[in-house]
Amino acid sequence: MTVLLRNEYHGPHHVCHTYLQDISVALLTLTSSSDKELSLLLINDEAMTLLNQTWRHKNKPTNVLSFPMEDNEPVAMLGDIVISIDTAARQAKEQQLSLHGHLRTLLIHGLVHLLGYDHERSDKDAQKMFALEKNLSLHLNQRRNTMVQLAINVDHVATLRQARGITEPDPVTAAAMAELAGAVGIVVHLREDRRHIQDRDVRILRETVQTKLNLEMGAAEEIIAIALDLKPDMVTLVPEKREELTTEGGLDVASQKEKLTDVIGRMEKAGIPVSLFIDPDSAQINASKEVGATFVEIHTGRYADATSEEEQEEEFQLISAAAEEAYELGLRINAGHGLNYINTARVAAIPFIEELSIGHAVMARAIYVGIDQAVREMKEICKG
Ligand code: PXP
Repeated sequence: MTVLLRNEYHGPHHVCHTYLQDISVALLTLTSSSDKELSLLLINDEAMTLLNQTWRHKNKPTNVLSFPMEDNEPVAMLGDIVISIDTAARQAKEQQLSLHGHLRTLLIHGLVHLLGYDHERSDKDAQKMFALEKNLSLHLNQRRNTMVQLAINVDHVATLRQARGITEPDPVTAAAMAELAGAVGIVVHLREDRRHIQDRDVRILRETVQTKLNLEMGAAEEIIAIALDLKPDMVTLVPEKREELTTEGGLDVASQKEKLTDVIGRMEKAGIPVSLFIDPDSAQINASKEVGATFVEIHTGRYADATSEEEQEEEFQLISAAAEEAYELGLRINAGHGLNYINTARVAAIPFIEELSIGHAVMARAIYVGIDQAVREMKEICKG
């Protein structure tokens, strides 16, 4: 199975080749075409207009064209898919989609054409073709890396408990309810000052969480020892200041590479994958790769707190570019902080992000509608 990707587009939009290759390979597998070769060509509108004129007598660009291989071709070549990045980017912007999410849709459309389906032949053919596209999209989404998953942070249930210093409400019960509602992971932050989550919570959660327990923590020796002993399914290292209300920014990985390499090494040795909570910044992403992190969690706080549309757009673009850069480096990508029922959809649509970690907004809503409904509603948003 080979995907020959040629990029003849040199415009302003950056395209992640690794992502398109990964998606193409997954699509060939899903359509039982693993024995085939596929050529994928990225061009601009000018070149697309020329192709569209030559082959379809239409003097304008289009988003995607497919050229099936002739039957007498010697190699097992399925054909060529040609995409205009100019048109794809324009459409993505108009429809408020991420460019790579839209490219995925166009790739599916192009491939289904190559497999012999044609929506222009008849209504029945169109129905068949669109059903297959939907199916492929769904299957792709179910693969890791393509549909964002929802992990629920239950710190704020503990905050409420600690306000009275009694045993209710219990974050352990909340975690179980969140899992029953479809969360794929539970996140708790064991702070050095133990202001919300307590040692007892983490110990019990280690026994009861059925999905995945992600222990958020500062890189302090006391907490490291607890993590190494409890062995959560993963840890997320965050900067921790006693005076902050919540984690205020990403970890400065670049300035503490030696220390983090050591901590990550110890965690990995104990079989615990490490995620680093970082700002969407190139230097931090590269440093995260250098120190051996498996995941980065991109800090979405500045996007969530933006006070104007322009600022939010700027912050969104930073997150999107950071996710793409991390993906190219082979890091796995989560994101979180400040995400709510309004601002999550856009972040969830960034195709490189595997998981969102959301706490406050879901627990705030749960006060009115219950944990089950609050988690389910957020999960729907994540599905897109
Ligand atoms: N990710 C990290 C690293 C965090 O520190 C927090 C806050 O505890 C979250 C995600 C969740 O943020 P929020 O509670 O705003 O959804």
